[in-house]
Amino acid sequence: MTKWNVYVTNEIPQPALDMLAEHCDLEVNREGKPLLKSTFLQKIQGRDAVLCLLTDQIDAEVLRAANQAKIFANYAVGYNNIDIPAATAHGIMISNTPGVLTDTTAEMAWALLFSVARRVVESDNYTRMGKYEGWGPMLFLGQDIFNKTVGIIGPGRIGLSFAKRAKAFDMKVLYTGNKANPQFEHETGGQYVSLAKLLQNSDYVSIHTPLLPETFHLIGEKEFKQMKNTAILINTSRGPVVDELALVKALETGEIWGAGLDVYEWEPKLAEGLSKLDNVTLCPHIASATIETRTKMGMIAAVNIIAAMKGELPPNCLNP
Ligand code: DGY
Repeated sequence: MTKWNVYVTNEIPQPALDMLAEHCDLEVNREGKPLLKSTFLQKIQGRDAVLCLLTDQIDAEVLRAANQAKIFANYAVGYNNIDIPAATAHGIMISNTPGVLTDTTAEMAWALLFSVARRVVESDNYTRMGKYEGWGPMLFLGQDIFNKTVGIIGPGRIGLSFAKRAKAFDMKVLYTGNKANPQFEHETGGQYVSLAKLLQNSDYVSIHTPLLPETFHLIGEKEFKQMKNTAILINTSRGPVVDELALVKALETGEIWGAGLDVYEWEPKLAEGLSKLDNVTLCPHIASATIETRTKMGMIAAVNIIAAMKGELPPNCLNP
C-alpha cells in the first residue's frame, strides 16, 4: 500500500501524530496559528488527506484546491466549519470526533456555571489584588445551585452528560430541542418544555445545540426578556447560537444575572463591551481541552484517515 501524504493544519497531541506517521508521510503546520488562506490553499494541493481544525474554513475553494484529497478529518465534533454538500460533490469524505469529548465538555459547562454563580473569577481577582481585608457578610454574594432549575437547550450527548450531573445537586431539569427524548428523560428525570417555558422557569440555562441555520441567534433580545433577572446563561456549543450584542445588553441592564462563555459569535473576537463586565466568565474555547480528551480526538482523526487510506469507510464519516 502506498503511503498517503497527509497535511495537519496545526499541532495536535504527539501520540496522534505518531500514529499517523506510522502509516503516512506527514507535514504539520507548527506555526501555532491558523495559516493564511493563500498558504493553506497551496499546502493542501497534492495531499491525500488533511487533518483540519474547527478554525479552518473548509469551503468550496479549499475543496477545489485539495485536488487529490480523499478525506478531511476534522479535529472536533462540531463541523459547521465545513461545507459538507460541497465536499460530497467533490467526492471528499469528512469525518469528526464524536463521543470522546462529551463528558469533558459537560464538565466545562459546569465549571462555568459554578464560576459565575459563586463569583469565583471575580473574587479570585479581588483576592490577588490585595483587596481582601477580612471576612464580610456581604462579600461576593452569589447564588445557590442545589435545588434550582436548570434548562438544557439541546438534549444530545453533551446535554445529556451535563443533565446527569445536575441530579447530584438535586436540581430540577428542563430541556428543549426538536422533540421529546425518552432516553434523556429516563436518565435525568428531565421534563420536555418549549424554549419559552424553559427560559421563563430556569435559574440556569446551558446551551448544547449544534450551530445550524435554525439555531443561529436562537437566544437573542426577545429570549433574554423571557429569562429570569437572576438567570445565568452558559454556552459551550457555538458562539453564533447566541446574539452576542443582545447578550452584552442583557448583562449590562440586569435583564439576566450573568453568563459563562467558552465560545463567541465572532471568535476569537469578543463583542464590544463583553470583557468589561464583571458578571461573566470568559474562556477561550477550551471545553474539550484536557490532555486525555485532546489526545483521544487526535487518535480518532488519525484512525479515520488511516481507515480511508486502507479503502475502508472511516468510522466517523459524515458523508458516506
Ligand atoms: C468541538 O469539538 O466541536 C469543540 O468545539 C472543540 O473541541
